[in-house]
Amino acid sequence: MRFSVRKLSTRRRHPLAGFVVLMLALIVVGGGAYAVQTTALSPASAADDTTSSRELDAGRQLFLIGCASCHGVNAQGIGTKDDKNYGPTLIGVGAAAVDFQVGTGRMPMAQSGPQAPRKTPEYDAEEVRQLSAYIASLAPGPSIPSSEDTDYEAASTEDVREGGEFFRTNCTACHNSVGAGGALPDGRYAPKLDGVSAKHIYEAMLTGPQQMPVFGDSVITPEDKRNVIAYIKAVQDQPNYGGLAGGGLGPVVDGLFTWVVGIGVLVGFAIWIGAHGARVKKKR
Ligand code: HEC
Ligand code: HEC
Repeated sequence: MRFSVRKLSTRRRHPLAGFVVLMLALIVVGGGAYAVQTTALSPASAADDTTSSRELDAGRQLFLIGCASCHGVNAQGIGTKDDKNYGPTLIGVGAAAVDFQVGTGRMPMAQSGPQAPRKTPEYDAEEVRQLSAYIASLAPGPSIPSSEDTDYEAASTEDVREGGEFFRTNCTACHNSVGAGGALPDGRYAPKLDGVSAKHIYEAMLTGPQQMPVFGDSVITPEDKRNVIAYIKAVQDQPNYGGLAGGGLGPVVDGLFTWVVGIGVLVGFAIWIGAHGARVKKKR
């Protein structure tokens, strides 16, 4: 450290020294702001899979009150004689299905219809976790994806392009090429994918709600699922006029670039003018 400081001070007279110091300052300030942004935006790593018996009990209580009337007291399902209000068995659907259905507000289903629509969730995040844990305890099934599985912001441009190919092959038939949704027979529909969280997109692929096929990990690997999510998010973030891809942070990276290079160039010009301007020439 001392060495570099001394080195700097011996070269202080050099016409470029001021410029170099300024550039360093710009990078430090800009980089600091960038680091703050990044940590502020990155999701808190949650410990998803901590299931205690208290959690299971709470989940069972919630289930008996809100779900058993359609899905049966032991989640075994209630046979539909004609009444579409009764629900299918939930044994083996896994935590992912519950997290998706309840987290998107589809369940508890309010009234019979061809399809349970997405609505404001009735349960908070903790209750959803308890319900999921309870159903998952009955039989093995797909579990809730980790925050790593759904970290679409880590996808590169190439990943997004690949995700786009998967999407066009597997999803556009129902959801349209930009995820705008579409009608299906019998009054059902594939919803538009605007504003659906990464976790819920992942779970939809994993559990295949209603008409949607199940895209198990052998069909679309976890990494490809993440890429599909990255593609859906990239399409939604448009218009995106060719900004720098910075892990999905968007304008933050562009801002840093402008800050360091843009202002740096301006400062460089100012120093150049100072050194070569008419007044300097007169003095010489
Ligand atoms: C009014 C009846 C009704 C209530 C109440 C209800 N459900 Fe359902 N549920 C259904 C029907 C019908 C389906 C199948 C149709 C569909 O998926 O849209 C279903 C499907 C599901 C599925 C998807 C199953 C699969 O195979 O993927 C899950 C998970 C689920 N319900 C969980 C719940 C939970 C948890 C609750 C309580 C918070 C609940 N449901 C309350 C009627 C109900
Ligand atoms: C055969 C038609 C079909 C295909 C193919 C299909 N889906 Fe779906 N998708 C549906 C239907 C129908 C629903 C609504 C289910 C419901 O409401 O219970 C749905 C729901 C969803 C949801 C939930 C949206 C919301 O509003 O919560 C997501 C996310 C989704 N699909 C993503 C995908 C992805 C990604 C693919 C490709 C890997 C795909 N789907 C392929 C029919 C399809």
